[in-house]
Amino acid sequence: MFVTTLVVGLLAVPCLGSVNPAKPQMGWNSWNTFKSNINETLIKSSAKSLVDTGLAQAGYKYVNLDDGWQAFTRDSSGRQQPNSTRFPSGMKALADFVHHMGLEIGIYSDSGIYDCAFYPGSYGYEERDAATYASWTIDYLKFDNCGSFQAGTLSPQERFLRMGDALNRSGRSIFYSLCQWGNQFPWHWASFSDSYRISGDIKSAFGEDSSGVCQSAYCLNTGYAGVSVLTMIRKMRELSRFQRPGSWGDMDMLEVGTGTMNLHQEQTHFSFWAALKSPLIIGADVNTISKVSLNILMNKEIIAISQDDAGVAVNYLPDLSTEHKVQVWGGPLASGKSRYVVLALNYGLDTTKITIPLIGLPGLNRSNLAKYTLREVWAGKVYHHGGDNLVLENVALNQTKVVVFSER
Ligand SMILES: *[C@@H]1O[C@H](CO)[C@@H](O)[C@H](O)[C@H]1NC(C)=O
Ligand SMILES: *[C@@H]1O[C@H](CO)[C@@H](O)[C@H](O)[C@H]1NC(C)=O
Ligand SMILES: *[C@@H]1O[C@H](CO)[C@@H](O)[C@H](O)[C@H]1NC(C)=O
Ligand SMILES: *[C@@H]1O[C@H](CO)[C@@H](O)[C@H](O)[C@H]1NC(C)=O
Ligand SMILES: *[C@@H]1O[C@H](CO)[C@@H](O)[C@H](O)[C@H]1NC(C)=O
Repeated sequence: MFVTTLVVGLLAVPCLGSVNPAKPQMGWNSWNTFKSNINETLIKSSAKSLVDTGLAQAGYKYVNLDDGWQAFTRDSSGRQQPNSTRFPSGMKALADFVHHMGLEIGIYSDSGIYDCAFYPGSYGYEERDAATYASWTIDYLKFDNCGSFQAGTLSPQERFLRMGDALNRSGRSIFYSLCQWGNQFPWHWASFSDSYRISGDIKSAFGEDSSGVCQSAYCLNTGYAGVSVLTMIRKMRELSRFQRPGSWGDMDMLEVGTGTMNLHQEQTHFSFWAALKSPLIIGADVNTISKVSLNILMNKEIIAISQDDAGVAVNYLPDLSTEHKVQVWGGPLASGKSRYVVLALNYGLDTTKITIPLIGLPGLNRSNLAKYTLREVWAGKVYHHGGDNLVLENVALNQTKVVVFSER
């Protein structure tokens, strides 16, 4: 009888018993701040800053070069090569430097004939490029979607699959990050990658989209969409249920520390990227980032939500939310003593009180509530639960309160 109950319980909650599944990747990428203007000096100093600031210790281990590292032509054997003025020591030496700092290194290419800056893309060269990256001891590939339109012969699915296959046969384990902008809805087909972008590029703005940005997941934007933080969160209403370990929907780089958002906006941004299980890739300049933004990016309890063993994203709870005023999201946790997390965002009201009936939180086992401590993460405040509601006082405009339910 006891055994039967246990088995049913495990089946009902499939992820909760698993040990160390893949976690959303954490690191830094050069694009948002530096675009194509990157070089060896910048990459080395950024790697060093990741270590010196404590970001590396907090989990940000990937140092990712985006577009701009390449020369405009392949070498005489058809291999991609770095721009020798900007990367005079070459890629293997740079990878060695990054590895010696205890970090891992990422590179960028494209599934088309050209990439987005008209450097040579990998179309038709997938095997050779994967082998080249492996020979340089590269750990991570971001693979973009430009310059493929001229190819016209293969669908995006086939082009991205080809590189995945080539990486798998390269002899090195290389993290495969698809940057396909959410076109053709990769949450339905990109499970062979480790993560896939769900939309066009993020914009360093909390609520102001570039013109023409569509609001839902099932509409198309090209690469340079200019999606604000709030719109990116909006798109995840339809996609949170697709999140799973080893196949993460990517909400694009973090804009925390780029100087366009205030404290509450940055906290909201980081809370949602973590709880929605997006990759956490810093887009700010880590050589000059403020202490305030660093403290946000290094909040251990928020990072623990991202890296939780269950790997289950929070879901939007429409019955507890009011469009353009309050959003409530919730979902299970399964690391250590943590069991549940709630995010409550005020995105339209003056400072307000948010009352959340606990009965409205799907997946929360209310018969265990007496055993739980409720902790408001950003405030470091502990509630001893009593009653049927979670009551959050004084939620400021653009603030998200994050409450973790843990066993005592
Ligand atoms: C390297 O790139 C950074 C960022 O774009 C730039 O400020 C710096 O001048 C460059 N350094 C060299 C040696 O080119
Ligand atoms: C290297 O980059 C510089 C700009 O920093 C550019 O002028 C030069 O043409 C590039 N060299 C190659 C071989 O692509
Ligand atoms: C590459 O290998 C991984 C891990 O075994 C697998 O999940 C993925 O589907 C493979 N990719 C391709 C394109 O076959
Ligand atoms: C809240 O965010 C909106 C959208 O970006 C902005 O217009 C407004 O000024 C922000 N208010 C505060 C108090 O942060
Ligand atoms: C809720 O928790 C109680 C007490 O720990 C347990 O007996 C029950 O099976 C749980 N219910 C679900 C649906 O997990």
